[in-house]
Amino acid sequence: MSEVMTSDLLSVAMAAAAEQLESVIDSLIAVPPGPEARVFEAMRYGTLNGGKRLRPFLVLSGARLFDVPDALALRVGAALEMIHSYSLIHDDLPAMDDDDLRRGNPSCHIEFDDATAILAGDGLLTLAFEVLADPATHPDAEIRCTLATSFARAAGAAGMVGGQMIDLEAEKLEATPELITRLENMKTGALISLSCESGAILGDAGADARAILRDFGYDLGLAFQVTDDLLDVEGDEANLGKKVGKDAAAGKATFVSLLGVEGARREARMLVDRAIARLEGFGKDADAFRQMGYFVLERRN
Ligand code: IPE
Ligand code: IPE
Ligand code: MG
Ligand code: MG
Ligand code: MG
Repeated sequence: MSEVMTSDLLSVAMAAAAEQLESVIDSLIAVPPGPEARVFEAMRYGTLNGGKRLRPFLVLSGARLFDVPDALALRVGAALEMIHSYSLIHDDLPAMDDDDLRRGNPSCHIEFDDATAILAGDGLLTLAFEVLADPATHPDAEIRCTLATSFARAAGAAGMVGGQMIDLEAEKLEATPELITRLENMKTGALISLSCESGAILGDAGADARAILRDFGYDLGLAFQVTDDLLDVEGDEANLGKKVGKDAAAGKATFVSLLGVEGARREARMLVDRAIARLEGFGKDADAFRQMGYFVLERRN
């Protein structure tokens, strides 16, 4: 019973955060007059189209640990969601995963066209950094600079972009546990880890707290990608809002292709246990992070 209540409370908290986040994104992407309006429309389409808003929720949860006002965390959450949404817009392009369904709607390049989807991704990535650099995100310029550097590392070729490159190259490489772990840590873990750490950056929490939350986030993020791989096999299109069975059809290297369904489930559970154990020093304040561990294991979308 108490677990059910916990997960109900978590859904309510996540829905409330998602609503606040969407109103921040809505106000950050206004459509100007003129023919360039089309790229702004596509940026709105790619960000205001649902999604779990997991990463902004993690930013808020971390910020609350260090008494950072929600308004600041929501701006950082919006920047993360812009980068995440751009990664999905580009991930769905014919040159990458060639997916025509995203968050229950036609993918951005289907609704618009390939060129507009590429530009919408470029626009979102760039706007994220404009948001981070704005004094409204934090009054201390040094903290804004630390955020921008951390975002660049997590999103760039040493992080998400590099992981996407390995994902495409992996068909030609031997799929060892080390390769798949590195691929998934980079393509998904880096941004989720940053989501968990950014509240500590905003709160100027010090290197030790930052490192714990970063490591927690890497374990959580890898578990999240392992369950994404599982859902591609076991999930259904209606719940997921995206096509299933695509990884095997494309010959992708995933934890499921490496370990099978049961092995991948065990791996996700091990990662979540390890993630939660890292939070020992944080007490009850970190319960939102702990609950996210169970959410990742049980999610159906
Ligand atoms: C999908 O991410 C891509 C991965 C990194 C696994 P999400 O499952 O967080 O997608 P949305 O934002 O809820 O649509
Ligand atoms: C994408 O991984 C991770 C990104 C960095 C976009 P997937 O290709 O497995 O994500 P889905 O399944 O299309 O959402
Ligand atoms: Mg992909
Ligand atoms: Mg994909
Ligand atoms: Mg997937």
